Amino acid sequence: MPVDFEASESWSEQLVAAGFDSRLPAVVVSTGVTMYLTKDATTATLRQLAGLAAGSTLAMDVPSVDRTSRRRRSLRASESGARAAGTPFISFYTPPEMLTLARQADFGGHYLSAVSCDGTAGHLSR
Ligand SMILES: C[S@@+](CC[C@H](N)C(=O)[O-])C[C@H]1O[C@@H](n2cnc3c(N)ncnc32)[C@H](O)[C@@H]1O
Repeated sequence: MPVDFEASESWSEQLVAAGFDSRLPAVVVSTGVTMYLTKDATTATLRQLAGLAAGSTLAMDVPSVDRTSRRRRSLRASESGARAAGTPFISFYTPPEMLTLARQADFGGHYLSAVSCDGTAGHLSR
């Protein structure tokens, strides 16, 4: 199901229309996406995910904001490749920052694991 997270679309309604049972807890994996989205789009996406059944789980990665990390060279290469492809990274979060964003989006009834490419992680439990 194609979705543009920047377009304020209700993709959760589209999922239900496609047969998704929103009464059951779900596992959602979002890898390699938040860096391409504005903070507003990520917040709106988290709000829609907060509407999933209690006990749902979101696993995501975030590009590290720590430019001193041992993975710095690898991150820079990814950034430069994305820029060259015309899809630059525009948002950076640490795992704790992503957890704060999730709490602000009323994500409280769910589990969230945010893992950074430098190996740090943050976990939010209901
Ligand atoms: C580096 S790829 C990651 C693909 C896959 N999730 C993975 O982990 O291998 C970046 C993904 O972000 C998606 N993406 C970027 N901007 C988006 C947007 N505004 N709405 C929806 N998806 C977007 C692209 O379609 C692409 O699939």
